[in-house]
Amino acid sequence: MSRRVDDNRSETRRAEELMLRAVGLTGDTYPHPNPRVGAIVLSPDGTVVAERAHAGPGQPHAEVLALTDAGGRAGGGTLVVTLEPCSHHGRTPPCVDAILNANVATVIIGVEDPDLRVSGSGVSQLREAGITVVEGVLPEVVRRADAGYFHHRTTGLPRLTLKMATTIDGQAAAADRTSQWITGEEARADAHRLRARCDAVLIGAGTVRADNPRLDVRIDSYTGPQPRPVIVGGSRPLPVAATVYDRDPLLFLPDGAKPPDGISDVIVAPGPDGVDLTTMLKHLGAMGFVDVLAEGGPTLAGSLLRQRLVDEFVLYLGAKLGAGVGVPAVGGVFETIDAALDVQITAITTLGSDIRIDATPLEAR
Ligand SMILES: NC(=O)c1ccc[n+]([C@@H]2O[C@H](COP(=O)([O-])OP(=O)(O)OC[C@H]3O[C@@H](n4cnc5c(N)ncnc54)[C@H](OP(=O)(O)O)[C@@H]3O)[C@@H](O)[C@H]2O)c1
Repeated sequence: MSRRVDDNRSETRRAEELMLRAVGLTGDTYPHPNPRVGAIVLSPDGTVVAERAHAGPGQPHAEVLALTDAGGRAGGGTLVVTLEPCSHHGRTPPCVDAILNANVATVIIGVEDPDLRVSGSGVSQLREAGITVVEGVLPEVVRRADAGYFHHRTTGLPRLTLKMATTIDGQAAAADRTSQWITGEEARADAHRLRARCDAVLIGAGTVRADNPRLDVRIDSYTGPQPRPVIVGGSRPLPVAATVYDRDPLLFLPDGAKPPDGISDVIVAPGPDGVDLTTMLKHLGAMGFVDVLAEGGPTLAGSLLRQRLVDEFVLYLGAKLGAGVGVPAVGGVFETIDAALDVQITAITTLGSDIRIDATPLEAR
């Protein structure tokens, strides 16, 4: 009896080790709106014979790539995959078919796919075909590694991360609206990595007017897709020309005002304070955006926070003191202490002489 318990424990430990390795395969992948998926194939003697990750829409799924690499060595062996294999015909054939064709004996799955086209049916089909299926191995680790995908498939909305860079006394810009550069090189490089993990970058009209940003990922080794710029326009005109207009931005407007010539994709979403931000997020979710990074400025940040639309908060504290009030990090009025949002601080990282704080609001929508 005690031997069986030990066997089970070491099998669980081995499954968890392999799952961590499979999650690790997805680290540098940018497949949105598809999920980040890693897969490992083991031959019957437990040797790893193939490991692959999914690269993006239209590309073969991770399990199919790994099984193809493994060839005949997969027969009677084990497939470890972070997400439940798909059972439907999308742009590629179902992964369940590839698994059956490869004669795999055991499939170890991190977490069920919340996509309604799969959602348990992949597992059922594998079990019906006589394959041993082990489900729920480190599901929280798998979900954390691709939080946007799981959020999008369960809510229909993109996961919204609000990023801000401020002086340590809370100023997002000086009174003359200059803010480049509050943080140093390491923090800025980190912010580009954060951008790379998102499929859209959101800014308000005030930031377009003040900073003329490009909003692209600028990392030498980066070859993934560029996030789509999304602009929240307001009652005042946007500049006639701006660098971001060359990047096919999507513009939300509170009324049918004529957009600048450089922007052709416009959605009208009126709300009480300009653009209705909930409607905007619904549109972005319906368009398939999974991970949106809001990069300010303070007026937009205040609206998003007060409307409890922020799922994750990343604050870069630059090693600077404004030593006065310029443009505070968040616009609007902080009425009373009971209106403060409680957050859970999930990480504090030093980046050169600056600090990054990650926090999750405790009352997100
Ligand atoms: N340190 C940082 O992390 C950081 C990041 C970005 C920007 N900044 C700095 O912030 C300053 C610009 O900030 P800002 O507050 O003026 O501009 P913003 O937040 O970028 O844009 C706000 C504008 O968006 C429009 N808008 C439409 N609907 C809205 C809604 N529901 N909620 C909020 N805004 C809505 C309005 O445009 P209309 O005015 O046309 O009505 C509003 O004034 C610049 O100095 C820039 O350098 C700093």
